Order: sequence, then structure tokens, then C-alpha cells
Amino acid sequence: MSWTRRHLLDLQSLSAAELTTVLDTARAFRAIGERSIKKVPALRGKTVVNLFVEPSTRTRISFELAALRLSADVINFTAESSSLKKGESLKDTVRNLEALNADFIILRHGASGAPQFLSQFAHAHVVNAGDGAHEHPTQGLLDVFTIRERRGRIEGLNVTILGDILYSRVARSNIWALATLGANVTLCGPSTLVPKVFESLHPRIRVTWDLEEGLRGADVVNLLRIQHERQRISAFPSVGEYASLFGLTPSRMATLSPDVIIMHPGPINRGVEIASEIADGVQSVILEQVTNGLAVRMAVLFLLNGGRQGELAA
Ligand code: CP
Repeated sequence: MSWTRRHLLDLQSLSAAELTTVLDTARAFRAIGERSIKKVPALRGKTVVNLFVEPSTRTRISFELAALRLSADVINFTAESSSLKKGESLKDTVRNLEALNADFIILRHGASGAPQFLSQFAHAHVVNAGDGAHEHPTQGLLDVFTIRERRGRIEGLNVTILGDILYSRVARSNIWALATLGANVTLCGPSTLVPKVFESLHPRIRVTWDLEEGLRGADVVNLLRIQHERQRISAFPSVGEYASLFGLTPSRMATLSPDVIIMHPGPINRGVEIASEIADGVQSVILEQVTNGLAVRMAVLFLLNGGRQGELAA
């Protein structure tokens, strides 16, 4: 299967078939990553620009390595050391990057909709690497990929997303991908961070503010950190109170199924949303998510470039 899309801006607009094509292609790239020679020539002669106007560890490094493994040339652009600091607009910045023949622009930006804005005039492929509280599509894809690899399917699974849903782009991308692929999604956390209105997004979504109910029957628990940088008002009295009411502690973990998997997109705040021993425990797939992110991002760049899954040798 191939993709006909020029850009990856969100997961809301992706069909089940498109999502499955990425997951299957990522599987092939993961197998390539286990070979002694991990590089393929799929993007030879292409230039990938990582345009990060917000901080990142995992996503930026993962896109850089994905592009290098596909044999592309890579430019890492950070806002702090650029002429954005001197008042140059995002549009002019991108026009200059395109004058240097950028073929892909991977954009992280604090404003929701910034990648959509770029896609209206850019000749390059635009990939959303996280825009405000809107979406983080490659994180959603790598999360769904990790669940499918671990549990063998997505359809019919009970996935609980616990934490700051309101300000989370990761939550939104997970919600769209999981619901489209047939999972039952429970959103759980304090009422100030998990508005009931999220249930109107899709019939497979339910909201609960009761942690015990939220964890009951879960096959997967995906934890989110509190996104203080995006909160305009204090959504709970203190971090300590949040940890005691909604943190995943060993005693709460003991109520879960023995084969539940624990996920987190990172960065994790140990002792707040997750106890250290759970983050490092046998049911945690947090670092596996990071490993899978490389294969997923290689798949996204490959498919946007017109690649077909069948071209990848087994
Ligand atoms: N999960 C994630 O987006 O992490 P970074 O902010 O480190 O890229």
C-alpha cells in the first residue's frame, strides 16, 4: 500500500486503511533496524529540516535518526539560535529553507494549527511534530504501533488514557487513531483536566473522573504528564494532591490485570503521574515506545515520499 497524502498534519483525518499502512510499513522498518546495516537509500538526495520552535528530546532526535537511516541530508533548526529571535516570521523562515531545497519540514510549534498554516504555501512535505494542544500524530502512531505489537491487535482493546487530557496533543492523536481502529478509549483524570465534552468526539470514548473505574478492565494504561507550560489556570490545588489522587502507585498497579501494559510518551515526572518502580518495571513499555518511534517516523517519511510498503525487502 502507498499513501496519496503530501503532508502529515493530524490523525483525525486518517482512515483505518491509512493508519494500518503506516503501522505495517513501520514493522518492515523495525526489521530493517535489527540488521547489521540499518541504512536504506529511500531518501537519498532529499533534504529534511527539523524546525523545532518548542523544546524536544525524543521527537527531534528520532526524526533526525529516521532521516539519516533513509539516507537524507538533515538540517536541525532550533528557534533559540535562529533569526526567528530577530523577528523573522515563520513563513519567511520556511521560504528561506525552501530556497535551499528543503524537501521535508518537520515542525514543532507552540501554536495549534502552525503545520496546517505551513502546508498552505510550502512546496515541501510538512510533518506535524506537535502543535500546541492540537495533535502529535507521530506520537499517536508510535503509541498505537507499540500497542499492536504487544497485544496483537487494536480492535476491542480497552485503553485508558490517564492525566492531563485537556492540554495534551498526545491524547488527541491517540484518541483519533485508537477510536478509528476500534479500541474502547477511557479518558480519566480530574474533572478540570478531562472535560465531559470529549465524549462527543467519538462513540468509542468515555470520560470518568473516578480512577478506580478508569483503571477497571484496562488492557493498556497510557499516562500523561501535567502540561504546566500550556495551562493558563491552576487545574488542581497542588502536584502532591494530584499525585495522591491520580498518580499510578504500586497499590493501584496491583489492581490491574497482570498483562496490562503501561505507556508514557515522555518526559515522565517520577513520583507524580507514575511511581519510579512502575516506570522501570516489567509492564512498562516506555523505552520500547521510543525505539518504535524511529521505525514509525521512517515509515512516515518513506510514505510521504511516495514509497510503497511492498518495495521494502523482507
Ligand atoms: N513525546 C515527546 O513528544 O517527547 P519530546 O517532547 O521530548 O519530543
